[in-house]
Order: sequence, then structure tokens, then C-alpha cells
Amino acid sequence: MATLPKPAAISIRTVGPFDLGRLSRLHKSCFEEAWSRSDLAHLLAMPGGFGLIARLYEGGLVAGFDAMRGVGFSLCRVVRDESELLSIGVAPTWRRRGVATSLLQASMERCRAIGAAQMFLEVAVDNHGAQRLYEEHGFERVGVRPDYYHRPNGERVAAYTMRCDLEARCGPSRGP
Ligand SMILES: CC(C)(COP(=O)(O)OP(=O)(O)OC[C@H]1O[C@@H](n2cnc3c(N)ncnc32)[C@H](O)[C@@H]1OP(=O)(O)O)[C@@H](O)C(=O)NCCC(=O)NCCS
Repeated sequence: MATLPKPAAISIRTVGPFDLGRLSRLHKSCFEEAWSRSDLAHLLAMPGGFGLIARLYEGGLVAGFDAMRGVGFSLCRVVRDESELLSIGVAPTWRRRGVATSLLQASMERCRAIGAAQMFLEVAVDNHGAQRLYEEHGFERVGVRPDYYHRPNGERVAAYTMRCDLEARCGPSRGP
């Protein structure tokens, strides 16, 4: 398979109230079961909840206004010293260019900075690409949840729970 060019620059910023439409469209492009704007607003309003959006600056390739195109997102929650990666996705056209890597790294660092010592996530047992991404960032399987995902076609799929030691991965917390 031909290697796609890495983007010139990936910019990560916190999701704000004006990003809900963009976030919902991105989520829909990544998952069979789309989350609505109100679902996303609810998640972001939870105590400790935050979202990150990845934007690409590619000069000549993505010119003018589109030079700040939103191409991926992550959603996280921190509760005391534990954090959870609730969702991560990159629009299909922009995959395998390091966007999720940047988002995951920034999510882990943000959670660590506000006091989380560990990060947990669930990933479908058949989502091998995402599992590889997580393993490359220090996540290990710590459990299996049968029938965790209910797909629109009626299929039920198990999930692995994965955990990462943020202290070892990201260093000391700047948080409380
Ligand atoms: C999983 C997902 C977020 C990865 O995004 P991405 O921007 O393409 O990931 P990256 O380019 O940062 O990939 C980093 C590494 O992860 C691994 N990886 C990512 N996608 C992969 C795939 N489809 N197959 C195999 N390995 C993959 C590779 O090791 C990759 O490094 P490489 O490209 O140098 O080989 C993206 O495919 C996606 O949005 N999928 C649909 C939503 C989803 O499954 N989210 C996770 C739910 S738990």
C-alpha cells in the first residue's frame, strides 16, 4: 500500500461550544452509530469532560479558509485520579497520517496535567487498527466485556478494556 504523506502541521485545540456541529459530523464519519449534537454537549458538560479537535494546516493542498480543516476529535473524562478515553476518530480521508497519534498524545497529557494517574478505554475486539494505536501509546489489555457494542445490524461485539499508566508515560502531574 502506498504511504500517505504526513500533514505539514496538526493543530490540537479544546472543543468549544461552536464546534458541536463539526464534532457531530466528524463523529458520524467515523462510527456507524452517530452521536447527536445534544449527546456530545451532554458528554462535554459532564464533570471532568473535555474534547479535543485536530485541525490540519496544509498550505497549498488545503488552501484558504479550509486550511484550518477539522479532521479528527477525541473525547475524555477525568474523575479524580482516573481518566477515560470516551471516543476518538479521524475522518476517513485523513487516516494513517498521524492525526490520532497527535490527538491521543494530547489527550493523555491533558488528563495527566489535571491529575489522572491512569487512562482507561474500551475498544471492539475486531478493531485491530485502534488496538495497535493504543498499544503503541502504552495501553495494555486488562479485561474483556462481552456484548459491549450493539451494532446497527444487530451484531453484538465484545470489547477489550485497556489501561495506560499515565504517570510512567507522561511524567509528573501539574494538577492538584
Ligand atoms: C482508529 C483511528 C482513530 C486511527 O486514526 P489515524 O489518524 O489513522 O491513526 P494514526 O495515523 O495516528 O496511526 C498511528 C498508528 O496506529 C496504527 N493504526 C492506525 N490505524 C490502523 C489500521 N487501520 N490498521 C492497522 N494499524 C493502524 C498504526 O500502527 C499507525 O501507524 P502507521 O500508520 O505508521 O502504521 C481511525 O482509523 C478511526 O477514526 N477509525 C474509526 C473510529 C474508531 O475505530 N475509533 C476508535 C474506537 S475505540
